[in-house]
Amino acid sequence: MADFKGIQVVETSELREGEARRVSRREFIKRVIASGAVASSASFMVGGLAACTPRRAAVAGSVERLISLNVNGQVRRVDVLPQETLAMTLRYKLGLTGTKLSCDRAECGACTVMIDDVTHYSCSTLTHAVRARKVVTIEGLRGPNGELHPVQQAFVEELSPQCGFCTPGQVVAAVALLKKNPKPTREEARHAMSGNLCRCAAYDNYLNGIMRACGNLAEISHGV
Ligand code: FES
Ligand code: FES
Repeated sequence: MADFKGIQVVETSELREGEARRVSRREFIKRVIASGAVASSASFMVGGLAACTPRRAAVAGSVERLISLNVNGQVRRVDVLPQETLAMTLRYKLGLTGTKLSCDRAECGACTVMIDDVTHYSCSTLTHAVRARKVVTIEGLRGPNGELHPVQQAFVEELSPQCGFCTPGQVVAAVALLKKNPKPTREEARHAMSGNLCRCAAYDNYLNGIMRACGNLAEISHGV
């Protein structure tokens, strides 16, 4: 018995010793995991909070999203994504839907606006790039009492638009041309307007409108 008990005692003590070793190893692992978990949750908390906290210091390469734009003589505050195009901002943030969006890749001129009196395709211009500049859209060409711009009036008289989809871009391009060259020849006008496509092929009608607007009536041609 004594032996048995001895053995029992030895087994019990070995078990206890082994258990103590396992416990201590288990404890060790628990502590490692616990500390890792603490570290992870700490980094999660820090990262999570940082992600939710407005960053006051600008990250290198980032841009401020809430910006001021000078559009049609008014300063407009607008939230603009870094990669947002001017056409998107004008149409979907500022409600200026006179600027049309068609090819969306600088091929047709439907989205033409003036930036500092020079025509640009707004579909291919980043809004952030025009922050300190003056943007004029088709809506900005009307007179103080809503009257048509002389170019628009001339287009009406010459029946220039057909379906009308390209017309806002054509008007803006023609106004920019006449600002730079108040009395262009028909050929000069044709060259200046070459960036504005018309699916209805009303090119001659638009040129007639420009000739009428600038008083160059001798160059109006209605064909034979
Ligand atoms: S929509 Fe911009 S050029 Fe066609
Ligand atoms: S009038 Fe129809 S696209 Fe120009």
